[in-house]
Amino acid sequence: MKLTGPFTQILPLDGLPLKGRLDDEQLNIIHNGGVLTENGIILAIGDFDELRKANPSAQIEETIGPQVLLPGFVDCHTHICFAGNRAKDYSMRIAGKTYLEIANAGGGIWDTVTQTRNATKKELTETLIQRANRHLAEGVTTIEVKSGYGLSLQEELKQLHAIKAASAQTKAKLIPACLAAHMVPKDFSGSQEEYLILILNELLPKIKDEQLTNRVDIFIEQSAISADNALNYLTKAKALGFDVTVHADQFTMGGSKVAVEVGAVSADHLEASGEAEIKLLAESDTVAVALPGASLGLGMNYPPARKLLDAGACLAIASDWNPGSAPMGDLLMQAAVMSAAEKLSAAEVFAGLTYRAAAALKINNRGILSPGMVADMQSYPCADYREILYYQGKMKPVAVWTGGNKA
Ligand code: NIG
Ligand code: FE
Repeated sequence: MKLTGPFTQILPLDGLPLKGRLDDEQLNIIHNGGVLTENGIILAIGDFDELRKANPSAQIEETIGPQVLLPGFVDCHTHICFAGNRAKDYSMRIAGKTYLEIANAGGGIWDTVTQTRNATKKELTETLIQRANRHLAEGVTTIEVKSGYGLSLQEELKQLHAIKAASAQTKAKLIPACLAAHMVPKDFSGSQEEYLILILNELLPKIKDEQLTNRVDIFIEQSAISADNALNYLTKAKALGFDVTVHADQFTMGGSKVAVEVGAVSADHLEASGEAEIKLLAESDTVAVALPGASLGLGMNYPPARKLLDAGACLAIASDWNPGSAPMGDLLMQAAVMSAAEKLSAAEVFAGLTYRAAAALKINNRGILSPGMVADMQSYPCADYREILYYQGKMKPVAVWTGGNKA
């Protein structure tokens, strides 16, 4: 048994609603708190001195100076298994070139597909571990990682195997997802329907056999996969037993409607969502995932996060860390910057980065600090939780724990 503390404040984020608005007054703040853990699981959380008296045999892991403890962040949407970079795309974009001009100059998703195909599984694994560990040091203890830069049976499997290999070599919890439906690969000679049938018939059964992931994602967009084809694909993926998630309404509408119709665990992006989409999502069990890093990377508007919460949606915030549209990969900074523009409370931001993001991944043992949960935690060098967003992501955690141990 181990007792960690004292913490000036602990925000366990327990007992809060899964959906809708949150005010900071709703936060249960424990002052001079401690966390009692055993075998990586939280046994008790409360007043540090009382916990110490009640558990005299507990080993004490003492904190130094003022610290605020939060659950580790859950980044429920990333593409950090890739090779190379797209700095050339970025320089063209900030200079005003269009999506089409960049694609015609050899940029876009296909460029990363080419670079990722040219990398070995070992190289992909190593760079993925480095990115996961950077995220971990910044308090992100659970990270969803998508494939989607392979776009052939063999290359998608290479990515998923790299994610599996990396999982065993980082203390961050990695959650894999198959995004073979990111776009129809340029070297595929058939139609969009034929590509999706190939994935359904050949790749998904293999992924299931090898237990590489139980999540299937798709990019619904005019430049990627149509809404009709996506509905058919996701329905069949669900019938095979996969949870499904959607890249929805990034540039044009249509994706979130499909997501809700098929019962997707989440609809992510939503920059182009209108009132009807907001209502649909709010009335559904599909988590709405905002990806402010993509808005920052593309110089576009944020998704309607405030409106989604006001309408009653479950809003998670994720980084979308990828080499094209969201190269920064700083989840806290992105969430903090979006919250100022969208007018989100700190409670809404922290919920979106923890237990609401865990819901998007269907994880129920992380994202909240309470007895029985995995002790994934992070502490910030301040005495008041409000300082964390105030510094807009520049203040980083002084300590991060996964399964009760310092990472
Ligand atoms: O989530 N929108 C589609 N896919 C990624 C971008 C991937 C890329 O540009 O490499 C996204 O933003
Ligand atoms: Fe994405």
